[in-house]
Amino acid sequence: MELSDRVGKELALDPDDRACLAGERGEGMRLAAQLVTALGRIYGAEKLVPVASVQVAGVSYRNLGAAGLEFLRDWAETGARVRVAAMLNPAGMDLVEWRRQGIPEEFGRQQMEVIDAYRRLGVAPACTCTPYLVGNVPGYGQHLAWSESSAVVFANSILGARTNREGGPSALAAAILGKTACYGLHLDEGRRATLVVDVNCSLRDPADFGALGYMVGRIAGDGVPLLRLRRGPEDLGTQADLLRSPFLPHLKALGAAMAASGAVGLFHIAGVTPEAREWGEDIIAPGAARTTIEDLTPALCELGMARGAVDMVSIGCPHASLSELAEAAELLQGRRVTTALWITSARATLEEARRQGMLEPLERAGAKVMADTCLVVAPVRHLGYHAVATNSAKLATYAPGHCGLAPRFGPLGACLEAAVAGTMPDA
Ligand code: F3S
Repeated sequence: MELSDRVGKELALDPDDRACLAGERGEGMRLAAQLVTALGRIYGAEKLVPVASVQVAGVSYRNLGAAGLEFLRDWAETGARVRVAAMLNPAGMDLVEWRRQGIPEEFGRQQMEVIDAYRRLGVAPACTCTPYLVGNVPGYGQHLAWSESSAVVFANSILGARTNREGGPSALAAAILGKTACYGLHLDEGRRATLVVDVNCSLRDPADFGALGYMVGRIAGDGVPLLRLRRGPEDLGTQADLLRSPFLPHLKALGAAMAASGAVGLFHIAGVTPEAREWGEDIIAPGAARTTIEDLTPALCELGMARGAVDMVSIGCPHASLSELAEAAELLQGRRVTTALWITSARATLEEARRQGMLEPLERAGAKVMADTCLVVAPVRHLGYHAVATNSAKLATYAPGHCGLAPRFGPLGACLEAAVAGTMPDA
C-alpha cells in the first residue's frame, strides 16, 4: 500500500491512548501522546505499537542549545516518566572526564543540566550510539523507537528489529507513551528492497565496507538497498554469535556510512541478514532499481583518501566495540602518538576493556579514551585542529560540516600510523 493510500485513514487508539491524549495521565503524557499520534496521522499509520526500547538522540548541548535544554526541563517538570527502557545517544563530552577533555566550564555545566533533565524523565544516562553492544539487544521483529541513524540501521538490518529513524523529541515521546506509530519500517511493505546493488569489488576491511556504504547511501537516498556481495560475511548466526562476529566492525561501518551519505534506515545483504534469508527473492519490491558497484575509488577519493598531514585522529564512530579496542591496543603497543588521538566508546564497553587490560597500552601511547561522547557532537572547533584521520566513513562525511575538519580516511592501522607519524601513510 502506498503512503498516499493510507493518509487520512483513522488512527486506532485504545482507552489508555485516549486517556493519555485527554491529559488524564498528566500534561507530560499528554504532550507525548500528541506527538506520537500527530506523527501517526501525518504518515497514515493505522495503529500504535508498543516499543521494546527507546534510544534518544538530541543529547549534546552543542546541538540542543538553550532552547532545547528549556524544552527538556519543562517536560521533566510535568513529572512525566518513561514507560519503557530508554537510553541516550552520545553527549557533547565525557560525563566524568570532561575537564580533562578540554571542555569549557560553561558548556560542561549546561551539558550536565541536559543529562539531569533526561534522568528526571527516567532515561538512563548511558550515552552511546551502540546500545546493542552494551546489553540493549533487540529481538527479531521487535518494535523500537531509536533515533541515532547508525543504531537504527544496525537494529533494522542486522538484528531484524523494526524502527523508523526517530527524531529526538519523537523518540522521547515514544518512551513516555511506551508506543510509537506503526508506519514506514515497522511494516512489512516498508522493509522490501527498493534498490538491488551487485557489489563486484573486493572488500578487505571495515574501512572498505564504510566506503561501500557511502556509495550505496548516495544512490539509495532514503530507500532500502539489497546488497549482493561476491564475498563477505555468510550466515550471521544467532544474535549472540553476531555480537562476537569478526564481521561486526564491518557491518557497523557499512550501515553507519549508508545512513550518513543517504538516509538509509534499513539494508539487506542477500543470504546474510535475517530478513533477506527468511524472505528470499520476496525481499525485493516490485519495480526495484538495479545498479552495480565495481570500484570503491570514487568513494575513497571523496572521503579523503589522499596522503597528508593530520593533527588529530578519531577512532570509534560508531562507538568502538571490544574487538576494535583490542586491535587498536595491539597496534599501539609500545608506541607514542604525536597527534591528538580520540578513541570513543560506550562507558560499559570501556569498563570491560579496562578490566581486560586493553586500555593501558592505549593510554600509555597518549590516546584520550573517552566514554559518552564523540567528535561529531563535542564542541571541538575551539580546540584548533585542522585535519582528522579516521577509519569511519560516517565521520569522514560529517567532519567538514560538523567539526570544521578536513578528513583523511583509511583503515584503522593507517589511522593509528597517522597518529604516530602525524601524516596519513599511502593507501
Ligand atoms: Fe556515534 Fe557520533 Fe559516530 S553518535 S555514529 S560516534 S557521529
